[in-house]
Amino acid sequence: MIIELEPGTYQWCACGNTKNEPFCDGSHKGTDKAPHMFKIVLKRKYNICNCYLTKNPPFCDGICRRVKIAEA
Ligand code: FES
Repeated sequence: MIIELEPGTYQWCACGNTKNEPFCDGSHKGTDKAPHMFKIVLKRKYNICNCYLTKNPPFCDGICRRVKIAEA
C-alpha cells in the first residue's frame, strides 16, 4: 500500500491481525509475532507491505505480485 509518512518511528504489523494496517495495534499479543520497528527520515510516499510476506519489512518487495502470478 502506498502511504505518505511523516518523519518518525513506526511499528509495522508483522502478524496480519492489526485493524490499523500497516501498523501494529497490539493485536499480536498471544502470538509468536512482534512488530517491526522502523524509522522514517524523509516525508514522502512509501510502498509499505500489507501482505506480510515481504523479505524487506516494512517495504513491499513485490512478492505479493509474484504469488498472485503463481496462483493464476
Ligand atoms: Fe501485528 Fe502487532 S498487531 S505485529
